[in-house]
Amino acid sequence: MAGMVIHGAQWGDEGKGKIVDLLTEKANLIVRFHGGNNAGHTLVVGGEKTVLHLIPSGILHGSKRCVIGAGVVLDPEVFLMEVDKLAAKGVDMSPARLAVSLRTHVIMPYHKLLDCARESAKAGAKIGTTGRGIGPCYEDKSSRVGIRAGDFLDEALLAAKIRHALAEKNALLAGLYGLAPLDADKVLEELLPLARRVVPYLADVPAMVQEALGSGAGVLFEGAQGTHLDIDHGTYPFVTSSCCLSSNAAAGSGCSPKDLGDIISVVKAYTTRVGSGQFPTELTCARGEHLQSVGAEFGATTGRKRRCGWLDAVLLREAVRLNGTTGLAVTKLDVLGGLDQLEICTAYTYEGAEILYPPQREGALAHVTPVYETLPGWKEDVTSCRSWSDLPQAARNYLTRVEELSGAPVRIISVGPDREQTIYKD
Ligand code: IMP
Repeated sequence: MAGMVIHGAQWGDEGKGKIVDLLTEKANLIVRFHGGNNAGHTLVVGGEKTVLHLIPSGILHGSKRCVIGAGVVLDPEVFLMEVDKLAAKGVDMSPARLAVSLRTHVIMPYHKLLDCARESAKAGAKIGTTGRGIGPCYEDKSSRVGIRAGDFLDEALLAAKIRHALAEKNALLAGLYGLAPLDADKVLEELLPLARRVVPYLADVPAMVQEALGSGAGVLFEGAQGTHLDIDHGTYPFVTSSCCLSSNAAAGSGCSPKDLGDIISVVKAYTTRVGSGQFPTELTCARGEHLQSVGAEFGATTGRKRRCGWLDAVLLREAVRLNGTTGLAVTKLDVLGGLDQLEICTAYTYEGAEILYPPQREGALAHVTPVYETLPGWKEDVTSCRSWSDLPQAARNYLTRVEELSGAPVRIISVGPDREQTIYKD
């Protein structure tokens, strides 16, 4: 393996953590390239559950190196909490195994306050952000006033940057949102012990990635969130603030797009969404509740109940097209077991016509009507299936239809949370 990107094809929570964990076997270096601790990747190894928000899921493989690229936004407190939690479990968390780009932007306390204050101020039209300061941190990056992890090497510069940022942030926090202004000295005092602990992890991540690719060592690029939460191509404004597409694996880590290699798009066998925004195939009836409870659909970061619905092949087709998918990893197939009939949305009707791709205008997804195809369900428990031929015929038919409708081959099927509960199709 040279490069391999693993990313989400829906609205996040597709089960990327497990797929990354599985494919890490083939890689030497695992790179997070965008997003921050708004992500929540759940891994179950030998029945033991670990939830990671920031550190690449590959960390549980003893010999692998994990890095956080420039495209990520890093909350130092969360980063160090994860380091400590994993170290307490006996995982080697030395800088030899984990690195952070000097160019990674830092989530500051005022980013978190602004994120939450803005959401509270939006009466009916909340985005439903995770409240982790993601949007405000990316705003500062684009406004070129952000603090980067490399600034931790120069405490005088760090102090000056915090003072400069607070002149504006305090005007917003106090003037617009009626919150107490932050004191620059206190912010610095609380940050310094964290910053000093992050410093040993700082590294030239682009050089590490390029060296690994050049030497033929496998590099796995770990995406977060999902295609339809992408800042440009998602259901704007109900999106996150970063580029969630496979192409950002190059920019967000610092290598050439030519090196990305295989693109594995992870898709749940049905659809879920947390937070606000359009969701054409959402089931607000007992069937939606069934998927929610059988699939234990609660956000790994916020604990919020996920909205559930049928698989939307229109959105999947769009994800395949936007990401250049070379293979699909279909997760949670087991959750569909026991239902008499399954529906897949194959197209939408919109303004009197049938369309195969989502309409581009903002909010248009709220005005489409899904066109459904009904497929027979299966009664068998598939959690102990380990090969394509073990699966009931109806499950195989469902997956074959997913391939036909999306235009991408199914390569991996997950039938339960554990590493072992996986089928490699080819
Ligand atoms: P933010 O990324 O916290 O700004 O949240 C923006 C939107 O993206 C909200 O609807 C969140 O629920 C959603 N979101 C962010 N990260 C994830 C994720 O990892 N999984 C699913 N939804 C997410």
